[in-house]
Amino acid sequence: MTIQICSLLSRALFCSTAMLLAIFLKHRKGSGKSDGKLPPGEMGLPWIGETIEFYRSQRDNQLFEEFVQPRITKYGKIFKTRLMGSPTVIVNGAEANRFFLSNEFKLVISSWPTASVQLMGINSIMEKQGEKHRCLRGIIATSLGPAGLEILVPKICDSVQLYLDKNWNVREEISLYHSTKALTFTIVLECLLGLNFEPGTLNTFERVLEGVFAPPVSFPGSKFSRAKKARREIKQMLIKVVREKRKKMESGSGGDEGMLFTQLVSGMIRGEISEEEIIDNVVLLVFAAHDTTSFAIAMTFKMLAEHPDCHSLLLQDLTSSCLLQVLWTTYGTHYNEEYFKDPLTFNPRRFEEPIPPYAYLPFGAGPRLCAGNQLAKLNILIFIHYVVTRYNWSLLCPDEQITTDPLPFPSHGMPIKVSLKSS
Ligand code: HEM
Repeated sequence: MTIQICSLLSRALFCSTAMLLAIFLKHRKGSGKSDGKLPPGEMGLPWIGETIEFYRSQRDNQLFEEFVQPRITKYGKIFKTRLMGSPTVIVNGAEANRFFLSNEFKLVISSWPTASVQLMGINSIMEKQGEKHRCLRGIIATSLGPAGLEILVPKICDSVQLYLDKNWNVREEISLYHSTKALTFTIVLECLLGLNFEPGTLNTFERVLEGVFAPPVSFPGSKFSRAKKARREIKQMLIKVVREKRKKMESGSGGDEGMLFTQLVSGMIRGEISEEEIIDNVVLLVFAAHDTTSFAIAMTFKMLAEHPDCHSLLLQDLTSSCLLQVLWTTYGTHYNEEYFKDPLTFNPRRFEEPIPPYAYLPFGAGPRLCAGNQLAKLNILIFIHYVVTRYNWSLLCPDEQITTDPLPFPSHGMPIKVSLKSS
């Protein structure tokens, strides 16, 4: 894998995860006692604080430009505010990243919104700490480590080619964002976990994901109650699959040792994890991979369309070298002049220079470093490879807005015009 693709993907992750991380609404609670000293900043009106300004700028995809940057200029990289009734400190910069991310479980504990916890389940890895976190992470990370990925590469290549042949070759217009969501779902469930599902299953999972950042209020027709209903359906489906798998494995015919689902059920047979833990973590993995990967792919193609010179370089690169070997390394930081010169300008070459530690963190860091970061990169790179080398493509809405609710997404699904290349 040569530098252009790495740089391009780094840049896509630079923008997409900058937004994702800021908007995940996940926050870290201090676990120690405060000595009462707070950084400078505005707490605003009681309860409301600066919530309206925050959400307005987030919705317009201007969270950094309209909310964070003016406050950094006024108060410095660490400032206080009040959001949704909670006194909040917003931290930016490599030093703060290092401090918070390396002190997870010690001085800080990450926490997610109520709806996310209820829908992912209290047994998902994001709710675990200490020894239980280590145990679950060990099982998940084994399948996502180098040996597991080696098995996954041909499977992902086959899935991407099959998906493109079936869906892209027969149509002129494609919603890139929705296509990549469907494909990412297949890659996680089929390639990574080794599960096969009925065609409607993606819709059921998407109903759950739509509720993850919704207000946790249940009334008929609310996003949250629809999501809870879909979650119950998934639970029933997965209970059946887990029990069948266990039966097969105990009778010696489980097979597919490399697959993550087999590893999880093995953990259950050994008594290390429970049935609920398997179910909650399958849902978590779909959530963790879904919007993140699809948005990174969509932003990559947007940038390629806006910068034809990079598209040509990429194509040259992909046709003159073999596919893959991948090497890698968040928000107030990603857009900070101190680490990245002229940060809002598209410049994939910036990633050819060394980057200071904790300045570029699209996948987080510390004990909660994204367990699927290598899989995400493989997924994105394999998809780019096949699309760029096989199709002529162009954006149908070049000025399409990126909307944030609270995750970023292209407001029209990034429609593109595609045709197969003649050669
Ligand atoms: C571009 C795509 C992706 C991005 C930007 C991304 C980003 C992140 C980030 C920033 C975290 C840390 C959250 C925290 O600090 O609590 C994280 C955690 C995690 N991610 Fe990803 N992710 C991506 C794709 C994936 C994929 C494809 C998978 C697996 C299928 C995955 C699985 C996980 C898991 C299991 C965790 C929890 C780790 C733990 O708590 O120990 N992610 N991701």
